Amino acid sequence: MQLQDILYSQGFGTRRVCAGLVQQGWVAVLEASSPAATSYQLCTDATAELEPEGLRLQVQGVDWPYHAKAYLMLHKPAGTECSQKPSAYPSIYTLLPAPLRQRPSKSAVLGVQAIGRLDQDTTGLLLLSDDGQFIHRMSSPKKHVPKVYQVTTKHPVDPRQIAQLLEGVVLDDDPRPVRAAACEQSDSHRLALTLTEGKYHQVKRMLAAVGNRVEGLHRSRIGALELPAHLLPGQWQWLTAAELDLLVSS
Ligand code: URA
Repeated sequence: MQLQDILYSQGFGTRRVCAGLVQQGWVAVLEASSPAATSYQLCTDATAELEPEGLRLQVQGVDWPYHAKAYLMLHKPAGTECSQKPSAYPSIYTLLPAPLRQRPSKSAVLGVQAIGRLDQDTTGLLLLSDDGQFIHRMSSPKKHVPKVYQVTTKHPVDPRQIAQLLEGVVLDDDPRPVRAAACEQSDSHRLALTLTEGKYHQVKRMLAAVGNRVEGLHRSRIGALELPAHLLPGQWQWLTAAELDLLVSS
């Protein structure tokens, strides 16, 4: 694959912009397929043929490992919206580097997309991808991917509230009760709630339905994938192949 096409696939701009980046000496490469190469080599030929798998790019001094498809996790901070066009708070997409927001795709939408949404005041694990099948797999209500929320409540949690959350509560827009798959209390005002559905404001509405109120909400896990402790609010990282396997087999 030509270097300019590789850059284009990664979201570095139009093919013309990508060719310009290379010709102006802004791109260095480190190919996995050439064992002799141990450090980045400047490449000024936009049409140079390279093997993309395992390729490491350095674009304007920033390391960029080639990814045919993008799969990432973000530690969503409070005070951000998951929408591309936020109404009141900054969008989570502003936390990502421009190439991730510009990656070309076959659909009309450019770049990676958040898989599901968290409220502006909710923190924690959010997945993003540009792989339509993966997005569908992870967000389809039929797949029942479990998500764990750490809930801080306004009022002390009563054992009857836990029983109700597990038995099921009726929310105003649906006569079918929604239930927590698991509910563990860690102290008087804290619960870990596992849900396998993703209704609008679900945790807040479930807690309200049992007579309590959410004061703080943090998503700590999706399927078998835990938010790593080192990933601070606002930070993102690529998913490893092992993490991707964990999610797909969840
Ligand atoms: N449930 C909520 O109420 N809010 C979220 O952000 C996620 C789940």
